[in-house]
Amino acid sequence: MAGAVAPGGEGWSSRWAFILAAVGAAVGLGNIWRFPTLAGENGGGAFVLVYIACVILIGLPMVLSEVLIGRHGRSDAYHSVVKVAEDSGVSKSWGLFGGFGILGAAAILSFYSVVAGWVLYYVGVMGADFFGALFAGNPMAGALAAETPETIPNRMTDLFANNTLLLGMHVLFMGVTIWIVARGVTDGIEKAATILMPAFFVLLVLITIYGAFTGEFAKAVAFLFTPDFSKLNASVINEALGQALFSMSVASAALITYGGYVARETKLAPTAVMIGFADTGVAILAGLMIFPIVFAVGLDAAAGPTLVFQSLPIAFHTMPAGSLVGLLFFVLVFFAALTSSISLLEAVTAWAKEKTGWSRPMAAWVTGGVIFLVGVACALSLNIWSDVRLLGFWPLFAEANIFDTIDGLVGKILLPVTALLTSIFIGWKADKKLVQAETELSAGMMSVYRFLIGWLAPIAVFLILLFGLFPSLLG
Ligand code: PHE
Repeated sequence: MAGAVAPGGEGWSSRWAFILAAVGAAVGLGNIWRFPTLAGENGGGAFVLVYIACVILIGLPMVLSEVLIGRHGRSDAYHSVVKVAEDSGVSKSWGLFGGFGILGAAAILSFYSVVAGWVLYYVGVMGADFFGALFAGNPMAGALAAETPETIPNRMTDLFANNTLLLGMHVLFMGVTIWIVARGVTDGIEKAATILMPAFFVLLVLITIYGAFTGEFAKAVAFLFTPDFSKLNASVINEALGQALFSMSVASAALITYGGYVARETKLAPTAVMIGFADTGVAILAGLMIFPIVFAVGLDAAAGPTLVFQSLPIAFHTMPAGSLVGLLFFVLVFFAALTSSISLLEAVTAWAKEKTGWSRPMAAWVTGGVIFLVGVACALSLNIWSDVRLLGFWPLFAEANIFDTIDGLVGKILLPVTALLTSIFIGWKADKKLVQAETELSAGMMSVYRFLIGWLAPIAVFLILLFGLFPSLLG
């Protein structure tokens, strides 16, 4: 297979390895607990159409741009942008947005790992539950049989109140992430992706089929797809675009970094399309997996932690073989979170390695350790530090604890600014021949791409930034 060409000697062993790793980066908690509810509550099919338009018109050109920067630069996000800037005869200061992306990746990982720790805790809870039922000769039992639908939600609130458990899970998750990244691109990241992603897809399909037979499939389809165009307004469209970019892992250095390990022979444009297609497909399938189960017990389509850690366990409680399906479900979410975290840490580690000359394991443990400590503050902001307001003077963050402040800074400022600069850089500053040589687009497709990345993307992302900073503009 076409192998490594990056200066560090690291690279994907095949095109598929890259696709699986990039899809692993893209498919994460965002697909599972945000997209389905956003779609259901904001116009169903109408939202899905807007979302798909955002993916095609802005997401794909952004993915292509980042992967091409990486492949041309053959380094971490910062140094790759600097290289493209140099080869284009423009200022090296453009490297700044590569640096912003890396900072964004570190910030996202700090709280992502905390949330993934909750997932890990539920893998443990459901695992103990299932094996208990199995050894008691009752594998078809519902989940958490000793509890009632009223007490099950306490699992989450109890976890949030328990610092030792919260931090323990965060340590464990971050430790696994660092260990994989420290092993390297082929032996760590690629190996994890080629095992975890196929397993993820199998579980996704199996649980969806289970839900289709035992749950309220028709109701879920109606909730997700019945188009209600009256729900579409500027704020919903803004949300769809923000979600599309986050979900495709745009503007957070991960795709540039992974692009740096792509072989010369790999065609970037079709690969970017596959990444976008897989990510969107998973988001939609996740809705078809989750809602039939949640609706089967008459619960609401809540979003975020409530959906995954409270509503679903209640549903698994009553459904046949719920303890097994519950375990498989949390394993699936864990796999999705892990492959995303790996990409986030790799973005930071690759930079630290390049910057300091450290070995990969050293870079992974040091950067992972620092991010872990920031994550500790995020975790503690759920209880003992819940009153800390880092940016209390700023009305936008006046009510936000540490977790929400970091989340908000990244989502509202860092990612949109990075995306904006990326699109301006590729659309206006980067050498056209260089972009053409990396993307290998036909003349016609090239003009479409240039229009999307040079005009549509910057305008749309600028609006995300504007409305994010001044929500009152949206009324
Ligand atoms: N795309 C991931 C998700 O949907 C999150 C992520 C963002 C991962 C940026 C890597 C980089 O959960």
